[in-house]
Amino acid sequence: MDGLNRLSMESIGSPLAVRVDFHEEIGSTQQRARELARENAPHGTLVISRVQRSGRGRLGRNWGSPPGGLWMSVVLRLDLAPHLTPRVTPAAAVGVAKALRGFGVEARIKWPNDLLVKERKVCGILAESGGRDPDRFVVLGIGINANVDPQDLGASSGHATTLRSELGRDVDLLELLGAVLRNLDFEIGRLRDFGAIMDDWRALDCTLGRRVRVRRFGEAVEGKALDLGPEGQLIIQTDSGPVEVFEGDVEHLRQEGL
Ligand code: BTN
Repeated sequence: MDGLNRLSMESIGSPLAVRVDFHEEIGSTQQRARELARENAPHGTLVISRVQRSGRGRLGRNWGSPPGGLWMSVVLRLDLAPHLTPRVTPAAAVGVAKALRGFGVEARIKWPNDLLVKERKVCGILAESGGRDPDRFVVLGIGINANVDPQDLGASSGHATTLRSELGRDVDLLELLGAVLRNLDFEIGRLRDFGAIMDDWRALDCTLGRRVRVRRFGEAVEGKALDLGPEGQLIIQTDSGPVEVFEGDVEHLRQEGL
């Protein structure tokens, strides 16, 4: 066994795991965390499952979630103006990247929120807001391909890697969870100091300086990824001038022609 159980996880003592809802198998931790948030679950309610039958990714995609991964969603109740909640995703990307690096994995951030190792995805992040004042919440979902073989990840396996493949060994999931929660709590605690988070992002980024194609709202924007704006938007130099994108699906293009 891997030491993951409700008590061991609550014993981590993280403000992001004050209440742990642990499952052997579930449809989606994200869905469950949303339900708990609507039932007034407090900040730091952590939903985690060994297996997800219907894990959800960004843009309605499936997220393969076999045993051995870290599939988790945390309910956050932040004292932050609603227009600043999009900061949660980049903050989480920075936090999880730091945690993975602590395990010796060279994780880099692909804008907006994928963690890659040598261009293959090792972790996905999904932040979703809900509720109304004073009961607003964010559910932060994180999926880390940990002790898994890439071919077991389903549809996305061709572009995916796992900690097992990168390290040639399995990691202790409780230790990994502890590192993720510690780093997340730190980044979430400084959301108001977003410039500092962006500085760390730049040091971890693998998108800036590259040719990219970003698909959003049915159109594609292509050019060189120049920089990040103050709220984490991607600034792309296109043939017709700079364009800012706040969301979208990024493809890193071949380096030729830069
Ligand atoms: C992405 O598309 O990159 C985001 C993937 C997010 C997956 C995680 S796994 C835990 C949580 N539960 C879900 O159903 N999705 C998120």
